[in-house]
This record gives sequence, C-alpha cells and structure tokens, in this order.
Amino acid sequence: MKNAIETHNLTKVYNNNFTAVNSLNFEIPNKSIFGMLGPNGAGKTTTIKMLTCLIQPTSGKATVGGYDVTKNPDEVRNLLGMVPQQVSLYKDLTVMENSQLCADYYGIPKDERDSRIEDLMELVDIKYAKDKRVGQLSGGQKQKASLVASLVHRPDILFLDEPTIGLDPTTKRTLWDLIRDLNDEGHTIILCSHDMHEVDMLCDYVGIINTGNLVAYDTPQGLKDALSESNRNEISQTLSQISDENEVSSSTKENIENLSLRKMSLLLKNSDDSIINSIKNSSNIKSIEVAHNGRINLRIDSFDDMAVHNVINDIISSGGIIKSIYTEEPSLEDVFIKSTSEVNEDDRA
Ligand SMILES: Nc1ncnc2c1ncn2[C@@H]1O[C@H](COP(=O)(O)OP(=O)(O)O)[C@@H](O)[C@H]1O
Ligand SMILES: [Mg+2]
Repeated sequence: MKNAIETHNLTKVYNNNFTAVNSLNFEIPNKSIFGMLGPNGAGKTTTIKMLTCLIQPTSGKATVGGYDVTKNPDEVRNLLGMVPQQVSLYKDLTVMENSQLCADYYGIPKDERDSRIEDLMELVDIKYAKDKRVGQLSGGQKQKASLVASLVHRPDILFLDEPTIGLDPTTKRTLWDLIRDLNDEGHTIILCSHDMHEVDMLCDYVGIINTGNLVAYDTPQGLKDALSESNRNEISQTLSQISDENEVSSSTKENIENLSLRKMSLLLKNSDDSIINSIKNSSNIKSIEVAHNGRINLRIDSFDDMAVHNVINDIISSGGIIKSIYTEEPSLEDVFIKSTSEVNEDDRA
C-alpha cells in the first residue's frame, strides 16, 4: 500500500447548507509526516473528524490504511491514534489508569498491557508521573500522557491536533524528537499546526486548506520555491507594465526594482579593503554594505538563477575566505499568507 490516506472529493456539509469541507482530493504517503495548515475555520478539524470516523462525510470518499471510513470504521479506528487539541483524558484518573482504560478499549491482553504502557511512558518521559491524576499535570505533561494513551494499541497512523501549542521550548523540542522517532519507527503522522517553523522542520508534505478547499499541496521546499517563482513573475510583469507608462515616477520604479533584489549576507574571515573594493566592482552585486566583524550585506538579482553562484565565485577569486552565507528565501509563512489570501479574494469576486 502506497498511501496511508486517500481522499476523493471528500465533502462535509453541515446542517444541510454550510459546506465546511469542499471536495478535497489528496494523498498522504505511507510512513510520511504530513502537515495540515489553514486559518481558523478552514475545515481542518472537520477533515480530521471524517478521517478518524467521528463524523460521516456528506459525499465523496476517504480511505485510511486502505479501509473506507464509511464502510469499515472499526478497521480504521484500530489503525489510528488521535491526540486531540483538548486533552480528553479523565482528570480524576491517574496517567496509568487512563492508559489502561485505552488499552482495555482496544482489547490489549492484560498480561502485556502494563509493560507496554510503561515502555511508552519511558519513551515520552512521563513515567515519573504515572500515579499522578491527570487534573494535576502541567500542559506538557498532559500532552505526553495523551500521547501514551493514543499509542497504546500501536496505531500505524497518528493524528496530532496542535500538539505543541502552549508548551515551553524544551518540552516542544522533546515532542518534536518524539514525532521524528515515531516516524522513523514507521508511523504515519498527520500534524495540524499553526506553527510554521514546526511544520517546515518536521513535515515531508504540507497541505494548506482554506474555506474548505485544498489550496496548496507540496513538500515545504516545493511550496517555497513555487512562491519565489510566482513572486518573480509578478514583479517582472509589473516592471514591464511600468516601463510602458512614462508618467510613473522614478522613485516608484526604483521601489519596485528593489523588490526584485534578494538579500545575501556573508561573513568573511578576511574582509579587508582590497577584497571589498574588488567585489564592489562585481556586476553581480547590486549593492553592498559592510558591517562590523567581517559581515557584508549584499543585494543581488533575484531573477538570475546564477547570481548566488557568481557572487561566491567573485568573492573567492578576490581572495575572500567565506565563513558563512545566508540568503533570504521565502518562508512557509509567506506561502501560507499568500495562498490563503488569494482564495479569499477569489471568493469575494
Ligand atoms: N458541528 C458543526 N455544525 C455546523 N458548522 C460547523 C460544525 N463544526 C464546524 N463547523 C463550521 O465549519 C467550518 C470549519 O470548521 P473546522 O473544521 O472546525 O475548522 P478548523 O479546524 O480549520 O479551524 C467553520 O466555519 C465552523 O464554524
Ligand atoms: Mg480545528
């Protein structure tokens, strides 16, 4: 089986008239980490609820682990684990008792139940609190307890809804490591998150949902590359329009031309005057600013695929020794804002 999840025109209409999820088609490859992004109200939770058999699709189809969510909900439920945004454990029961309840629900044999739970507790580092009541735990401890309970039946596919929201940076990192470990062990992970850095860093594929529609689907790098490309096209279109219109002021034109420049920052081991003077003459460098400690900030042509390569060449052949390089690329957040604003504009039109 190639895909852990497949949807075909998956649709949810609430109260017979509100379309929360509109004909979604996507695939989540087996053993991948998939990030689901989208503004509030986009339809993420509704999609997850359909995939985890909590609600029925109005039309269309979804398969999880090859099983149809409508026809084989029991098989689907056995394959998946769910860590909801609001931890749904019993507050008055201990971490251990909550996990035991889950294990019993899935029919885990009693003789292996507790050792399995304790192994998981060690994995997520919550064993020290196993006899504490869930109501007494901190946010991060609750998330870990919730993870143990959701993993006790060894699900192939794990859904995580905003798992790191409100956690401190250290606990966040622990959870990120854990998500990677689970994925290395072969679990497919579906991660809903508003944390772009988290999604960018962890996910193999990202889907962006807006007003019930899938507006982007690619690898994080693919999405960012596509945005650079579309930004370039927009800028070059605007520039060619402007050169047709003489009345545009030269300062407007200069501003737009600046947009077509990309920032590049380098740290040189030996930024002396002779090196700076010789790279100042490089046609590949549009502007140069020399900061302290050997850092130079450049602007280069973002339309030219060879610009970065050429600038590095120029610096090395002038005798410069490069300690580090940074070029400004679009972030996943830029992609998110762009792809969710475009659809809103289309909707208004
Ligand atoms: N049970 C429901 N009945 C009617 N409308 C709902 C219901 N649940 C969610 N919605 C609406 O569906 C849309 C998508 O909601 P949801 O899937 O929760 O979005 P997200 O998780 O992306 O924030 C929202 O406009 C929400 O108000
Ligand atoms: Mg939601």
